[in-house]
Amino acid sequence: MTTTIPAHVPTLAETAQRMTRGGRGVLAADESIKTMSARLEQEGIAASPTARRDYRELLLTADGLADSVSGIIFADETFGQQLTDGRGFPEAAHELGVLPGIKVDTGTSPLAGHDGALITEGLDGLGARLASYAERKAAFAKWRAVFDIRTITEYVARANGHALARYAALCQQYGIVPIVEPEVLCTGDHDLAACDRATRLALTALFDELRQAGVDLTGIVLKPNFVTPGLAAAPAPADVVARATFEVLHDIVPATVPGIAFLSGGHTTADACSFLHKLSGAPDLPWSVTFSFGRALVSAALQAWAGEPANVAAAQQKLLANCHEAANAIRRR
Ligand code: 13P
Repeated sequence: MTTTIPAHVPTLAETAQRMTRGGRGVLAADESIKTMSARLEQEGIAASPTARRDYRELLLTADGLADSVSGIIFADETFGQQLTDGRGFPEAAHELGVLPGIKVDTGTSPLAGHDGALITEGLDGLGARLASYAERKAAFAKWRAVFDIRTITEYVARANGHALARYAALCQQYGIVPIVEPEVLCTGDHDLAACDRATRLALTALFDELRQAGVDLTGIVLKPNFVTPGLAAAPAPADVVARATFEVLHDIVPATVPGIAFLSGGHTTADACSFLHKLSGAPDLPWSVTFSFGRALVSAALQAWAGEPANVAAAQQKLLANCHEAANAIRRR
C-alpha cells in the first residue's frame, strides 16, 4: 500500500514572510483596465485585452524575475487570462517561483458628507470572489485606501480602516494573505510634517480596526507610503525621509506584523530605492521591509516595449534592472 504525503499548505504567516523576506519584494502589476489602457495609450499602444495580456506576460516571464521578486499583483482581467503558451497567469507565476496575488477592491467613490475624501469599494460579494481566487491559487490579495492630506480626518481614516479590516479578515478566512494598503498621496506641495500627520492618522485608525476585526497580524503585509514632502514641494534628503518613515511606523505598527512592503507613489525609481535603502539600514527593525512598487519598476519597461514584439527583450531588461535595484536596496551592505 502506498501512502501519499500531503503537500505542505503554507500558513498565512509563512506566506507573508515569503513575500517580504529573503531580499525580494512584490511587483504591483494590477492597474485597473481603465488605468492600464490609459498607460498603454500614452505610449502609443492601442489598448485591448490582448495588449494588456501581452504586457503582463512580458513582465511575468522576464528571465530571472524570481531572483528579486517574491510576488506579483494582478488585476482580475489578468488573473483569468492565459499566456501565449496557454498557461493561466496564476499557474505560470507559481511555476516561475513568484506568488500570484489579486487586487480585489473595486476602486474609490466619494465619501458622502466628506467633501473630496474617498472611500474604497468592493466589500459586496467579496467572500464569493475570494473563494474563486483561492481556488485559482491566489496566495495574497490587495486592497488600497487612498487619502489626500487635504481631506483626511479621523472619520475618513476610520471609514477606510474599517473597510480594510473587513477585507483583511475575509481574506484570512479563505487562506489568502491580505496586503493592507493605506496610501497617503504625495501629490501636492505640502511639507513632510503634513504627510507625517496624515500617515499617523491613517495607520492609527487602521490598526485599531484590524484589532477589533480580529485580524491575525502575523498573516498580513502592510503596504504604506514613505513619509515625504509632496512631489511639488522641495524634496527632503533620503535619510530624513527614512527617519520620519521609521518613526511613524515604529510608533504605530506592532512588531507582530511580519513585513512592510512600500508603494512607490510617483517617486522616481532612484528616490524610492534610496528611501528603502536608508530605512532598511536602520538597526533593530522589528519587521522586514521591502518594496511593492508599481510605476518605479515598470514604467521604463512599458516605454521600451512600445507594443512591439521585437522590443520585448529590451523591455524585460529594463524591468529586471529596476527590480534588482530595489532588491539591492534592501540587501544589507
Ligand atoms: P506605485 O508603486 O506605482 O505607487 O503603485 C503601487 C500600488 O500598488 C498602488 O496601489
